[in-house]
Amino acid sequence: MAQDELVIDPWGSAQSTDYDRMVEQFGLTSMEGVSLPNPSKLHRRGIVFAHRDIEQVLEAQRTGGPFGVLTGLMPSGQMHLGHSMVVEQVKWFQQQGGDVTIAVADLESQATRGVSLAKGRTVALKEYIAHYAALGLDPEKTNVYFQSTRPVVQRLGFQLGKRTNLNEFEAIYGFSGETNLAHVQAPLVQVGDILHPQLDEHGGLRPIVVPVGVDQDPHLRLTRGLASKTNWFNLRDSSSRGLMVSLSVHDENAEVFGQLANGRIDKAKVAGVFENVVAAVASLGFSDVLSNPKQGNVHIPSATQRDKHAIRLALLRLERELGGPGLMAPSSTYHHFAVGMTGDKMSSSKPKTTLFLGDDLATVEKKIKRAFSGGQPTVEEHRRLGGNPDIDVAYQYMMYFFEEDDAHLAQLNASFRSGHLLAGEMKQLCIEKATAWMGELHEMRDQTAHLVESFLAEDSR
Ligand code: TRP
Repeated sequence: MAQDELVIDPWGSAQSTDYDRMVEQFGLTSMEGVSLPNPSKLHRRGIVFAHRDIEQVLEAQRTGGPFGVLTGLMPSGQMHLGHSMVVEQVKWFQQQGGDVTIAVADLESQATRGVSLAKGRTVALKEYIAHYAALGLDPEKTNVYFQSTRPVVQRLGFQLGKRTNLNEFEAIYGFSGETNLAHVQAPLVQVGDILHPQLDEHGGLRPIVVPVGVDQDPHLRLTRGLASKTNWFNLRDSSSRGLMVSLSVHDENAEVFGQLANGRIDKAKVAGVFENVVAAVASLGFSDVLSNPKQGNVHIPSATQRDKHAIRLALLRLERELGGPGLMAPSSTYHHFAVGMTGDKMSSSKPKTTLFLGDDLATVEKKIKRAFSGGQPTVEEHRRLGGNPDIDVAYQYMMYFFEEDDAHLAQLNASFRSGHLLAGEMKQLCIEKATAWMGELHEMRDQTAHLVESFLAEDSR
């Protein structure tokens, strides 16, 4: 592997914030130019900065088609503000009409952090789901399950394991000979988490979006690659005009695709498959569909980029009818990490770096008072030179978590930068907002405590 290549370790404590480099190296797409209905503050402020294939989700939303959101939580330690960012995004997708699936990564937590399954369950419910409820997720439209008790998740992971190998794991995760195999198994289970909502018994074929911090992107690259490798049909841009469908022949479909064991080809079967493809595409309203079984492709000259999503869905549906898995590569969105209160990385194991959702208001106040400041050492200098809101924790926390009003936020930014608003005053404003926000959260937590059970999927009660 080239020296200058970035490898993200999702279990490591290092956290790269070189977002531009990640976008470029891992092929993420910027959120700039993506138009969202009723964007949340995380979207409006560029905190959600990149995505993969978000358009297929938005397209489903626009056309009234089904789509799902999936996230997972590690049931260890306490839930902190950083975790709430994913919940805010899940809630936003839920409000746009998505169904929500939440994986409790109890197997991963046991394997990588030594948390027993029983303890994992308690922590997940009392610490995490209790706060998800308080943050406003709708229990009617949310299904929480446990990795350890949903066999289909583990089965999918196992089955897809045959389409990857240790070299790929080395390239994606930087694994070596000493790597504990739990770190090989956990990503495969996570692949199962991400893909299983598409199975017929879990909601069926539909786009699934996974909002994550960039540390989880390796899992998404793995999952997307594995899903694509199972596909029976490829869809690509035609070198002339429009889109081109071709067959992807492998062990699982060789027979259906008329590839006889003796190397010969059952022409009638192949012709039948091509007729199926033409019918699937024609059912979307395309009249000009050129089938070339000899060249192994079907050309749709009038199809545009906008048609890709519908055609892909039709092909996956056909694949399922023919007996294939019909798995769609998941979409994802990526958010910037909020800075830790000390100015370093936010970490559950270092309480001073973050606000836990369970912190009492006095603790909240104390932590913000001690937070890293972007102000100048003296008032005189601050008035003269101005402060830097980009590194001022109190300002950053209002932007990420506590201040909904964009105009007010912009005013604070300008006022701090010009030296008019002092660092201590910024902290005081943040304390007011933060204690109100946390106070309300705690009140909601008491009011919604009785709902926690109703978030659980039937197989998880
Ligand atoms: N690995 C994730 C974490 O460390 C938890 C997780 C498990 C997850 N399955 C998932 C996250 C599926 C997103 C999607 O927090």
